[in-house]
Amino acid sequence: MAVLVTGGTGFIGSHTVVELIEDGREVVILDNLCNSKECVLDRIEKITGKRPAFRKVDLLDLEGVRAVFREFPQIDSVIHFAGLKAVGESVAKPMLYYHNNITGTLNLCHAMEEAGVKRIVFSSSATVYGKPDSVPIREDFPLRTTNPYGETKLMIERILSDITVAYPDWSVSVLRYFNPIGAHVSGHIGEDPKGIPNNLLPYITKVAGGKLPCLSVYGNDYNTHDGTGVRDYIHVVDLAKAHLCALDRAAKVKGIEHFNIGTGNGYSVLDIVAAYEKATGIKINYKIVDRRPGDIDECYADPAKAKELLGWEAQYGIERMCEDSARWQKQNPDGYGE
Ligand code: NAD
Ligand code: UFG
Repeated sequence: MAVLVTGGTGFIGSHTVVELIEDGREVVILDNLCNSKECVLDRIEKITGKRPAFRKVDLLDLEGVRAVFREFPQIDSVIHFAGLKAVGESVAKPMLYYHNNITGTLNLCHAMEEAGVKRIVFSSSATVYGKPDSVPIREDFPLRTTNPYGETKLMIERILSDITVAYPDWSVSVLRYFNPIGAHVSGHIGEDPKGIPNNLLPYITKVAGGKLPCLSVYGNDYNTHDGTGVRDYIHVVDLAKAHLCALDRAAKVKGIEHFNIGTGNGYSVLDIVAAYEKATGIKINYKIVDRRPGDIDECYADPAKAKELLGWEAQYGIERMCEDSARWQKQNPDGYGE
């Protein structure tokens, strides 16, 4: 029995592959390397002592995806990370996002159906809740998105739901991630964004490492305890572990289920700056600037459903997330390099 991990050389995928291997599971990675590097496989091997099978395949290439299922008939479940994820880029290039994320997922589902593989864990996002009416956010809250990236997540959720109606023997687990940060404790794998980071933690680690001069804090007039935006930051290793719990549940329960994967705690931008400074002893230069269009005041999960049905709960707090991000940055000042 093996797990096919699409997007397995990416940030969350690589951490999940490590957890899968350490749990004794066989892994096959499919990735087109459009946002990751093959050397991640060396790093996974360094941590686990095992090198997962890897096929450089684009999900848009249906024949290529079919070939992977044919080559590895032991695949009995899929964790589907592969997709494009930058909100701003999705506004500028909507066709690219709809085609890559949706057509790619349809191809994957076609190939699964043909191969008789009926279990899939899908990477969704808290972005499907848009601006929530209240926090903490429960899975039954209204769904609405504000950008093409979020639309692709919502559409894929709907496609997977329709598939479970047509094929009642499929098991689909939709994991709605909150804000994944941190890195593996070894410092060998972590987040390696191209160019100037959009997200808070990668930006802070670049400022801490002297690669960028100053963090811009996007607004201090939000309706939060210190005026800066509040999010539910979750350690990527905790998030990775949720996928193993979801796979185990999918082996037992048919149909579709949705889970919030967050800690249930909200921290502001300034809370994170303070936690990073405390964890590392490095002062983070910052300035307050205008709000970033599309940002919301507060977003944090009610993770009770994941605890009850998946038996999963986050273990790590923000200091540990900051320590691990800092170690990754220190050991790899240029990420995975060229
Ligand atoms: P990532 O970019 O590091 O990993 C995604 C991987 O998918 C990359 O390795 C990329 O090369 C690959 N890929 C993209 N399109 C592909 C295609 N057509 N065929 C084959 N491979 C393809 O991103 P990540 O942060 O690890 O995110 C993983 C998943 O989780 C994504 O679906 C993302 O939307 C979702 N998610 C991420 C966050 C976050 O903040 N990181 C939050 C919520 C949801
Ligand atoms: N922020 C700054 N300065 C920065 C970057 C971010 O002040 O340079 C602030 C933002 O305004 C926000 C908070 O830090 O208040 C977090 O911002 P991120 O960009 O790190 O994360 P978001 O919550 O905006 O978005 C993330 C993912 C999206 C996903 C969303 C919901 O990037 O893909 O979580 O899951 F859709």
